[in-house]
Amino acid sequence: QQLSMEEQIELLPYDKRWEFPKNRLALGIQLGAGCFGRVVKAEAVGIEGSDEHVKTVAVKMVRTETNVAALEALVSEMKILMHLGSHLNVVNLLGTCTKQINKGELFVIVEYCRFGNLQTYLINHRHGFINLMDEFGNMKSDDEMHKIFSLINCSGYGDVAVTRTSSALEKSKFPPFEFIYDPQEPKSFWHYQEDSDATLIRSVTTRDLISWSFQIARGMDYLASKKVIHGDLAARNVLLADDGVVKVADFGMARKMYLDSNYEKKGQGLMPIRWMAIESLTDRIFSSQSDVWSYGILLWEIFSLGKVPYPGMDVSHQLVKEIQNGYRMEKPENATNTIGKIMVDCWKSDPKERPTFRQIQEMIQDHIETSV
Ligand code: ADE
Repeated sequence: QQLSMEEQIELLPYDKRWEFPKNRLALGIQLGAGCFGRVVKAEAVGIEGSDEHVKTVAVKMVRTETNVAALEALVSEMKILMHLGSHLNVVNLLGTCTKQINKGELFVIVEYCRFGNLQTYLINHRHGFINLMDEFGNMKSDDEMHKIFSLINCSGYGDVAVTRTSSALEKSKFPPFEFIYDPQEPKSFWHYQEDSDATLIRSVTTRDLISWSFQIARGMDYLASKKVIHGDLAARNVLLADDGVVKVADFGMARKMYLDSNYEKKGQGLMPIRWMAIESLTDRIFSSQSDVWSYGILLWEIFSLGKVPYPGMDVSHQLVKEIQNGYRMEKPENATNTIGKIMVDCWKSDPKERPTFRQIQEMIQDHIETSV
C-alpha cells in the first residue's frame, strides 16, 4: 500500500538528540515571515560543542501558537531536516526546542545565512553586475576576463557593492581593496585582500550566477537522493552564506500546504504558480522532476538578476493555458547558451524527459571547467 506524503512524514522519527535548552537561546530580530511561520535571528550558546561558544543562528517558529496546521507543518519540516542529514548546499538543522510543544510552541534552529535570500540579493546587486559573456552567449576568454578585472576596482561596505574605475576609486572615501583573480578557486570567482576592517562584498559576475546554479543543483541532488521533494524551489527560498556558498531552504513547509485542500480553496495566492511544473498545475503531482521544472524557473530568475518569471503575464488561467499550449520563457539576457539549454530541458512537458539534478550538476560542472 502506498502511503501519502503526510503519512510518510508522520512515520519519520523524532530524534531527541537534537533537543537544545531554550534558555541558551537569545532571540533577536525577525528575518522573515510567511503566512504560517516566521524566522528570527538568535544567538545560541554552546550549540556546537563548547559551552562558551556563541553562534548566530536562525530560529523557525509558528506565527500564532493556536494554529494547528502551522505547527504540524513545522513538525514535518523538523522531521524532514532530521532525516536529511547535513549538506553544504542545504540550510542545515542545528537543534530543536520542543518542550513547550503542548502549548503550541516549537523552535527549529537552523544555520544563519548572513546575506539573506537570493532574490533580494540579486535585485540589490543588479547595478554592479559584471557580465563575463560575449555577444554569442559564450563565456569570455580568460585573457578578456583579466582585462575586465584589471579595469574594475571593487569597494564597498556591508551588503552593498560598489564598482568603480581606478580614478573614481581614488576619489572615493572608501579604502581601496586589492583583488586577485584565481581561476582555481572553486567557490568564489575572485579573492580580495582587505586594507581595512570594512567588509568587502564584491560585485556579482556571470561566474557567480553559474556557481550558484551549480551549488543549488548539488543541494537539490542531495534532497532528491534522500527522496525529499522541495515543492517550492525559488530564488526567495535560496539563502546566501559566507564564501559564496548558497543553500536551499524552506522545504517541507510549503508542500504540506499545497496538498491540503483547505488552502487550495482559499484562492491561488498560496500556490507558487509561476514556479510550478505543468503536471503540478493540472494534476497536483509533485516529484523531484517537478522540482527540476522549478529549478529551470529559478535559473531564469538568477540570470535575469531577480526578475519575476513570465513578466507581463498574470497568473490567471491564461498563464496555465499558455504553458499547456507549449509557451515557454526565452533565455534571459545574461544566461549563457549552456544555461539556456538546461532551462529549456527543465521545462519539457514530460517529466521523464527533463534532466535529473545529477545530470544538471554535471552539465554545469562541464560548463565551469570549459570556460575558465
Ligand atoms: N531568512 C530566513 N531564513 C534565514 C536564515 N536561515 N538565515 C538568514 N536569513 C534567513
